[in-house]
Amino acid sequence: MDHCESYAVLGEAMNAKYVCTVLVVLASAISQIGPLFAVDHQPTRQWKPTGAQNLKEGRSPEASYLLHCAGCHGRDGSGAEHAGIPPFPGFIDKFFNDEEGRLYMMHVPGVVSTSLPDYELAGLMNYVVEEWGGNESVTHFTEKEVGYLRSQDVDDVVKLRRSITQRLESEGIEMPNYPWP
Ligand code: HEC
Repeated sequence: MDHCESYAVLGEAMNAKYVCTVLVVLASAISQIGPLFAVDHQPTRQWKPTGAQNLKEGRSPEASYLLHCAGCHGRDGSGAEHAGIPPFPGFIDKFFNDEEGRLYMMHVPGVVSTSLPDYELAGLMNYVVEEWGGNESVTHFTEKEVGYLRSQDVDDVVKLRRSITQRLESEGIEMPNYPWP
């Protein structure tokens, strides 16, 4: 006995079973087409914007590094001295802790040529120093500082690096070899 027969048995109007059947058919039809009109509120991706995530490309800074930087700097950040690509390990934090060094880093070839937005570049640079900095504590980049430093003019990045490293070396800080003339 289905829903409709029980209505009829209960002594409703003569055509109760017919009306009920129509209603059941309608209800089932609506439940079929309902989902077509339903708005899907489920976000496709649930990111929490922290420094550890790379939002535009949906990549982690580590993946961005491999894609945009490792070709020259190597997966291990050791660079290639003969090709003029300085090593990060043990040295990169020296630039982080120097005002001019921070400006310099925002104007090196791979950074100037990247289309990454400021907040992603900040995350990527912070990844580099977390990965290859020494034990010194460093100030991380923020989106705002990256935007400001990128907007500054640097004519000659080789000259700038040389003047920074000479100053640091005169303070007794050891810096890696740098073959650029
Ligand atoms: C085409 C090769 C190339 C790519 C790709 C590249 N770099 Fe470099 N990078 C260099 C060279 C060459 C230098 C040395 C700077 C100079 O003399 O102009 C350098 C220097 C640096 C320095 C300063 C290190 C130092 O000791 O001077 C940082 C930091 C840096 N790169 C970060 C990055 C990041 C982050 C990326 C990826 C977004 C990247 N680079 C991609 C070639 C590259």
